[in-house]
Amino acid sequence: MHTVTLIPGDGIGPEITKAVTDIFAAAQVPVTWEEHNAGLTSFEASGELLPQALLDSLDKTRVALKGPLTTPVGKGFRSINITLRQKYNLYQNVRPAQTTPGIKSRYENVDLVLFRENTEGLYSGLEYYDDRLGIADSVSRVTVEGCHKIVRAAFAYADKHGRKKVTLAHKANILKLAGKLMLDAGKEISAEYPHITYEDKIIDNMCMQLVIRPEQFDVVVTTNLFGDILSDLCAGLVGGLGVVVGANVGDDAAIFEAVHGSAPDIAGQGKANPTALLRSALMMLQHLGEKDHATRIEDALNKTLQQPEKLTGDLGGKASTSEFAHTIIDNLA
Ligand code: NAI
Ligand code: MG
Repeated sequence: MHTVTLIPGDGIGPEITKAVTDIFAAAQVPVTWEEHNAGLTSFEASGELLPQALLDSLDKTRVALKGPLTTPVGKGFRSINITLRQKYNLYQNVRPAQTTPGIKSRYENVDLVLFRENTEGLYSGLEYYDDRLGIADSVSRVTVEGCHKIVRAAFAYADKHGRKKVTLAHKANILKLAGKLMLDAGKEISAEYPHITYEDKIIDNMCMQLVIRPEQFDVVVTTNLFGDILSDLCAGLVGGLGVVVGANVGDDAAIFEAVHGSAPDIAGQGKANPTALLRSALMMLQHLGEKDHATRIEDALNKTLQQPEKLTGDLGGKASTSEFAHTIIDNLA
């Protein structure tokens, strides 16, 4: 039995979370949940955006499933996502992008996994402004260790999951130092995996190639800013932000989440689509070594996606969140 910290989140968070926990219960998945909320709902109830009880739970479980969180706008509120990434050194942002029958997309046969470095680069938080000169510097700090860790994670994943190719996206032709560190890491680590094809691509060309022929990519690895942009581009290839998932992974902790927000416009109305959160929960099961449970639920989800009338409104159907969840349960083999 695995113990997992469950963060229901704000807005539609509790509705899509209930769909996932209902499906897990029906499928008898060996997971027990420790529920602790964060974000706006938590802040309004207890004055805490990121309660200590949640952090204590995560310190122990080292794995969480997280619904969308609203960070209140205003001074003094740090992004909860960034706080968690830094506290647990979640240096990998892993974003699979896969076309799925039943989910509209311009492409077929896209099946790639993007590894974005999650803690360094232009998002290191090193920013300076010289008032007198009117000059702003945002420092992109990249370390040899950081580059090695993310590239190694991408190759280890490719190796473990039988993927054939790793593409490293960079701008080393212009960023002679920071870009080169990443490229050097790619050259060095790819040599340890002779059975995996390795290539590097300059980021602007990479964007064009992704749009023209995304089927050619398998595992992609890149630095923080490029990865942020590429990950949404890849979401656009397979149906948009509403159906893709992400994981923030470190050496000894991982947080799995839907990448969409709390959808305040439809919250509380039973209209939310739980697909993205369910897919992140399935990625979590893979991480926990529960591959068979993950595959069984994924098969039921994919079967459901082929029944247009059983889907939620955003996918063109008429079903409520819980009706959609119950169709998935009925489709469990
Ligand atoms: P959003 O993703 O919440 O909503 C954009 C549009 O997509 C809305 O029309 C919404 O109804 C729809 N939508 C999103 N998820 C859906 C689902 N599962 N099923 C059906 N329709 C869905 O983005 P928005 O409106 O920009 O942000 C709302 C709040 O969410 C903000 O407070 C923002 O800070 C927060 N947010 C949190 C994130 C996180 O915790 N990972 C990520 C993005 C936004
Ligand atoms: Mg982003």
